Amino acid sequence: MPATVVVGTQWGDEGKGRVIDNLAEQSRMVVRFQGGNNAGHTIVNEEGEFKFHLLPSGILYSHVTSVIGNGVVISPRVLCEEIDGLKGRGYPVDNLRISGNAHLIMPYHILLDAASETMLGRRKIGTTKRGIGPAYTDKAARLGIRVQDLSDKKILRQKLDTAISVKNDLLEKVYNNPGVDPFEVMEQYAEYADRLSPYIDDTSLLIDRALKRGEQVLFEGAQGTLLDIDHGTYPFVTSSNPIAGEACVGAGVGPTRIDEVIGVCKAYTTRVGEGPFPTELFNEVGDYLVKKGGEFGTTTGRQRRCGWLDLVLLRYAVRLNGLTGLAITKLDVLSGLDQIQVCSMYEHEYDDQKDNYVDFPPHQSIFYHCTPVYETLPGWQEDITGVRKLADLPSEARNYLELIEEEAGVPIKSISVGPGRDETVEV
Ligand code: IMP
Repeated sequence: MPATVVVGTQWGDEGKGRVIDNLAEQSRMVVRFQGGNNAGHTIVNEEGEFKFHLLPSGILYSHVTSVIGNGVVISPRVLCEEIDGLKGRGYPVDNLRISGNAHLIMPYHILLDAASETMLGRRKIGTTKRGIGPAYTDKAARLGIRVQDLSDKKILRQKLDTAISVKNDLLEKVYNNPGVDPFEVMEQYAEYADRLSPYIDDTSLLIDRALKRGEQVLFEGAQGTLLDIDHGTYPFVTSSNPIAGEACVGAGVGPTRIDEVIGVCKAYTTRVGEGPFPTELFNEVGDYLVKKGGEFGTTTGRQRRCGWLDLVLLRYAVRLNGLTGLAITKLDVLSGLDQIQVCSMYEHEYDDQKDNYVDFPPHQSIFYHCTPVYETLPGWQEDITGVRKLADLPSEARNYLELIEEEAGVPIKSISVGPGRDETVEV
């Protein structure tokens, strides 16, 4: 299976980093294809904990070429910091390649993200305030500044002047905020240009060549299916497409090149930011999941909202991504609960008419106002972090996994039972 896409099946934070880290060991290339430093991946290895926002998760392996594809929006400041951080811990970063077609996050994007959230007030999206939405807006508006612009200072200055005159008008006249100084931005980005130029490459061509050589290439999704700008819980979504189809667009490969799509699914559900979440728990079980699962955002430190697993959403993720396998994460967090609930469908009542939804509702009002219908399963008390074989899991845990597999119609390929690299049950 040379080309494998890994995506999140929920609202992000499913534990994709550790799944990719495991798969990266057998790969020659790991490619990020969308999102920016709104993402946060944590990897734990024998040398400790690593948190990445932009660098692909394969960066810790010297045999892996790590690619930031054209679909990513890049904060050069964060990227330089991550590179420096890794070098400081003794990891060479020579195997990093950045697409010249990727767009850059500019200082005014970050200011606009914050200003827009403030203006929306109660209706805010709850963004990470990293400038992601405004950067993708400029990409679509053809006002964006791309990585390749860094290598031509004259072009960079021209593009910056045009963009900044528009953005400063917006910041000053619409949002009543100070604008940015074009000279300062130019100086700052000229410095980033010098730092990043050794890594800039034609990444679509690199991927094509790797695939032609029969090498294993992993495409690493950020965020999750329900945050997809087209198919997620709009407007409470991110500004890119975290679903598998974007691996082709955001990396520059055709759909016929993809062999496998693995969906990462946490054994329960979490969400950060605003927006509907039918299985959200507001009781002591929710608090238990937050504490035991360490459910605080890698990027913003915000406490994640927690709830039961939602099979309606999982089936939706299977459909949208064309999943060929599932990676279940954080199963160990459920140990110690007397009962586990899992949402099998939604009930929705309108004008005295009751409807059931086994599939994701086509209208967002239904999703907002639906009631989850739960199946209740017995929990297990055993600590499962030491388990490495499926047969050694408590029967209650195996029943839970069987139900997920059956309802999703996709085989489970791996189960994580702890944060460490080896704390995985291979199936
Ligand atoms: P943005 O991507 O910063 O524009 O934020 C839009 C929405 O996506 C907010 O609800 C964020 O909390 C959410 N979001 C963005 N990136 C992630 C992620 O990596 N994990 C979980 N939620 C995310």
